[in-house]
Amino acid sequence: MSQWLLILTIIFINVKDISGSWEEWWTYDGISGPGFWGLINPQWSMCNKGRRQSPINIEPDKLLFDPWLRDVQFDKHKVSGMLQNTGQSLVFRVEKDSKHQVNISGGPLSYRYQFEEIYFHYGLEDNRGSEHQIDHHTFPGEIQLYGFNKELYHNMSEAQHKSQGVVGISLMVQIGEPTNKELRIITSAFNKVMFRGSSYPIRNLPLSTLLPNTQQYLTYEGSTTHPGCWETAVWIIFNKPIYISKQEMYAIRRLMQGSQLTPKAPLGNNARPVQPLHHRTVRTNINFNKQGLPASNNCPDMYRNMHYTATQWPREHSMRYRSTEDLAMLSMIN
Ligand SMILES: *[C@@H]1O[C@H](CO)[C@@H](O)[C@H](O)[C@H]1NC(C)=O
Ligand SMILES: *[C@@H]1O[C@H](CO)[C@@H](O)[C@H](O)[C@H]1NC(C)=O
Repeated sequence: MSQWLLILTIIFINVKDISGSWEEWWTYDGISGPGFWGLINPQWSMCNKGRRQSPINIEPDKLLFDPWLRDVQFDKHKVSGMLQNTGQSLVFRVEKDSKHQVNISGGPLSYRYQFEEIYFHYGLEDNRGSEHQIDHHTFPGEIQLYGFNKELYHNMSEAQHKSQGVVGISLMVQIGEPTNKELRIITSAFNKVMFRGSSYPIRNLPLSTLLPNTQQYLTYEGSTTHPGCWETAVWIIFNKPIYISKQEMYAIRRLMQGSQLTPKAPLGNNARPVQPLHHRTVRTNINFNKQGLPASNNCPDMYRNMHYTATQWPREHSMRYRSTEDLAMLSMIN
């Protein structure tokens, strides 16, 4: 009898292990790569069937100017949490029981969201890395801040597959003189999370200072860019990149997908390919006008003929960007 119990227990533990490891069974290439996410796990079927998926390529000439888009509000206080190498990405997760959670609101958002995690996507070479593209230009990296709808849901795991559950804030990463010292709090910990499963505590990170100094953004409705690709995300892509140094980029490129014993391949190139737009609208609040008048004096409307153009970023990686250039990714031709 006790032997049967033992066997049953072993089977149960194994089954539990397998179901628990769905989370770990996906990759960015090969037979568990993005094209197969929706087949690996039935709960992730949106990865293959969805029609409002992320990331996307932003086409400057199809942007819709929306004068009713407000500024994005982002709480100023600092957060603590864990930086973790998950084997698929580098992820920072905020401490659950922190008294001061960071609220995100305004912009295109109808609800107040609570900051939860940061995903780091980056390339092993400078010509790839970001998930979103601007006029088919890929940046060396993309930092995504995710929050969940705190007015409707209790936590991220509940919110991510529910209506209006998630906000994704996307910061394109360019290589150059770092714009803010605060990013160092994270980048200096890259060598502490070399292998899958390793994590390192990060204290007093002033999140809001990671954001580029612009209130210009693009926004559209899409999905989480990792499984299960739930179509519950409002995306906000700021119109200026943030800068990290060559040394910091070198450090993050050394991270590995596997454990110390079987490091497998480098963690980088962890970007999902761009997904079809399927007639979605990408809205923007970018409204440069030659006279420098406030937008309200111009009586802008949804139908005004605005033409946007993407910045031509030099291709050679030897070209170093200086933060003082402070280039926007998109501008307007009148
Ligand atoms: C964030 O929102 C919560 C309510 O959801 C509120 O209690 C808290 O004061 C807000 N934080 C700040 C800094 O405004
Ligand atoms: C999230 O909230 C739901 C609903 O309240 C709860 O059942 C679940 O245990 C929570 N999950 C986590 C990870 O806290």
